[in-house]
Amino acid sequence: MRIALDGPSGAGKSTVAKAVAKRLGIVYVDTGALYRSIGLYVCRAGVAKNDSEKIIPMLNDIKLDLVFKDGTQCVILNGEDVSSLIRTGEISMYASAVSAIPEVRAFLLETQRKIARENSVIMDGRDIGTVIIPDAEVKIFMVASAEARAERRYKELIAKGEECTYEGVLADIIKRDTDDSTRAVAPAIPAEDAIFLDNSDLNEEQTVERVLEIIEEKTQKKTKKKPNRFYRAIKFLFGKLFSLLYRVKVVNRDKEIFDKPFIVYANHTSLMDVVVMVIAMKNQIRYMAKKEIFKVPVVNWFVKAMGAFPVDRKNGDVSAIKTTLSLLKNGECVGIFPQGTRRPYQNPRETEVKDGIGMLASRAGVGIVPIYIKNKKNKLKLFHRNTIIIGDYIPPEEFAFPELSGKEKYKKISEYAFDKLCTLGEEWEESK
Ligand code: DC
Repeated sequence: MRIALDGPSGAGKSTVAKAVAKRLGIVYVDTGALYRSIGLYVCRAGVAKNDSEKIIPMLNDIKLDLVFKDGTQCVILNGEDVSSLIRTGEISMYASAVSAIPEVRAFLLETQRKIARENSVIMDGRDIGTVIIPDAEVKIFMVASAEARAERRYKELIAKGEECTYEGVLADIIKRDTDDSTRAVAPAIPAEDAIFLDNSDLNEEQTVERVLEIIEEKTQKKTKKKPNRFYRAIKFLFGKLFSLLYRVKVVNRDKEIFDKPFIVYANHTSLMDVVVMVIAMKNQIRYMAKKEIFKVPVVNWFVKAMGAFPVDRKNGDVSAIKTTLSLLKNGECVGIFPQGTRRPYQNPRETEVKDGIGMLASRAGVGIVPIYIKNKKNKLKLFHRNTIIIGDYIPPEEFAFPELSGKEKYKKISEYAFDKLCTLGEEWEESK
């Protein structure tokens, strides 16, 4: 899930975004800190804040990193943690001035996009919904009257021991508003599809609640449709067939959820696992299927009708990943096997787990549902009891791991998910 939170300075974006990130277990990114750090660098060098000719070459000497310590963002400028040094009134004005230089914006673009690609984020700034993440799931443009903002900022600065007057703070805010919203590149204006939120008369808590409501309204997609007739008929037929041939028994069917998209995943012992999962779940499950299958005449028609989509397993298939993400974002359920390939006769705990489930769940911001397939010696055998245990829905907040990013995060989520799956099987075994 990616949430773009834009708006003028002092609207309380950072305080609200921090609280929302905590509640949802996602990463909070304060993009203003990047512009502020460049402002600090320019200020320290004694260069005038509008002197773009001098500032542009200075970018070559700047290395900026955002790191997250216990979920809190720290900004590192050439190896120095400047997180608190950038919070002065003077640096605010430098930040605003340097942010109007197109080269500065271009310099910071990829840093911001990379974080948004690899994490579920709430990102606060000015151009998040318009430039950085134009396809964010939720876009909010948060405003408050200049007076309300000046009063909040004034109190903040006084509390920090800075010398200032209310009138001075108000004048700075009005100047920054005008500069930020009228600059030529990426002006601070709402995206067309942003939700406008004026919090002049709301306190912090009320604003957080309102933002959470907006996120909920925007992201709570109902699972789209009932499985189509063909799917239901096949499910019925195979259900009968498998209960005879494989004595399939489903445990916890009543725990299924129907109102949210999710990834359903199982241990993989046999080719028939796909069918077994289709039979077990009431929701229609969409699967990736080897692209070669789509070339076999009748089979091609069948798998398509069942809602499968092709994946090129040999070459990392970006389009299959995109399809999966867009299905999940449209409220559908996708089935995957985290082990990547069949592992019959092996205790799942002793097998390897691929990072795919972590990457997909994290990028789509959806929950996961484990299914443990319990059968004779971990192999689906004719006329032996085969039990399908459906686990609880695990919400995305439970495996957000905001301190991690990229591959490390995907790996951790995958291991977490797989551990849940194995535990589900073990606990069921013990409870028998
Ligand atoms: O959010 P802030 O007050 O910390 O931002 C400091 C300045 O940086 C602000 O005046 C405008 C600029 N900025 C920007 O142009 N684009 C962003 N995404 C974030 C901040």
